[in-house]
Amino acid sequence: MRAIHITKSGGPEVLKLQETPMPKLLQNQVLIKVKAAGINRSDVITRKNMVSYGKGTAATLIPGLEVSGQIIEVGEDVKDKKVGDNVCALIASGGYAEYVAVDSSHCLSVPDGLTLEDAAALPETVFTVWFNVFKLGNLQPGEKLLIHGGTSGIGTMGLQMGKAWGAEIFSTAGSEDKIEFLQKMNLGKAINYKKEAFEEILKDEKIDVILDMVGGDYTQKNLEILNDKGRLVYINGMKDMNVKIDLLTIMRKNLILTGSLLKPQTDVVKSEIALEVEKNIWPMLHSKDIRPIIYKSFKLEDAAEAHKLMESSDHIGKILLTMD
Ligand SMILES: NC(=O)c1ccc[n+]([C@@H]2O[C@H](COP(=O)([O-])OP(=O)(O)OC[C@H]3O[C@@H](n4cnc5c(N)ncnc54)[C@H](OP(=O)(O)O)[C@@H]3O)[C@@H](O)[C@H]2O)c1
Repeated sequence: MRAIHITKSGGPEVLKLQETPMPKLLQNQVLIKVKAAGINRSDVITRKNMVSYGKGTAATLIPGLEVSGQIIEVGEDVKDKKVGDNVCALIASGGYAEYVAVDSSHCLSVPDGLTLEDAAALPETVFTVWFNVFKLGNLQPGEKLLIHGGTSGIGTMGLQMGKAWGAEIFSTAGSEDKIEFLQKMNLGKAINYKKEAFEEILKDEKIDVILDMVGGDYTQKNLEILNDKGRLVYINGMKDMNVKIDLLTIMRKNLILTGSLLKPQTDVVKSEIALEVEKNIWPMLHSKDIRPIIYKSFKLEDAAEAHKLMESSDHIGKILLTMD
């Protein structure tokens, strides 16, 4: 089969289309003929830091954390899926490929009204937001949710999920076009952080949950605008992972600081998230209260161009790779 490989650490040009053996199917897995694969910021980080992953197997050299496609073979222990099912799936790696073998319990049906291609934009964002905002952050209807990076793949889905859950939503983004998009989508109050200080604008809002991917000097500012018993949840620290904070702010307001990485979670945890997402979030997709925002699709062989776009941060929502 054809797949994009990270051939060494470096810029987008190290992504090369190469022939590689078909994945071997385990008893609990299904084999998916991939229709589309989602691009994630994490793939960019993996590509830049390949050297720290060691030599690895062929599979670990193929990036890609989510796909959609049709099941063409099932392992002997698989009872809940069958050949011909159209699914989207969360995977640990290997999505930029024509075929991928996936734990059957990490696959979900394609929601009503979505194309098979668009469903590739769902797993990484929905699983991440569910686990961090709803489980770790324990967001409740009526509470206030702030998401930094509001027009990222994660942000566009997280804001919609928060709103559909009954939360009041707030976000930050880095251009007027992005703010305009968020306003058009009716996704709450959006602040252009390049023009205005979010901590000033939100200082009296008493935010209950913040999903942050920026870190650095945002951290103390986040603590300042949180409500009593507020929760600050980290999924990245793109500005700086090392931060200085005033512990008194945490103690004074009984705050909780937490965060997670989805990729290294066990298969069991990922299966649990899949069940919870199917029960709580899939109905929002069926009813069209939420939908994936697709910015642009590239052909598999143009994965380097897709990475360049992601690194420009010009996009709003998700970037996909599609197979022939
Ligand atoms: N922990 C986990 O399990 C997990 C899972 C999935 C994703 N993530 C993280 O969540 C974030 C969003 O992922 P994604 O795939 O949705 O990414 P994405 O679409 O590329 O969005 C990232 C956005 O963050 C904004 N941003 C703010 N400060 C930034 C900075 N210092 N450097 C770069 N960008 C900055 C940029 O928009 P502006 O114009 O607004 O600045 C950019 O478009 C990433 O950091 C990713 O690593 C974590």
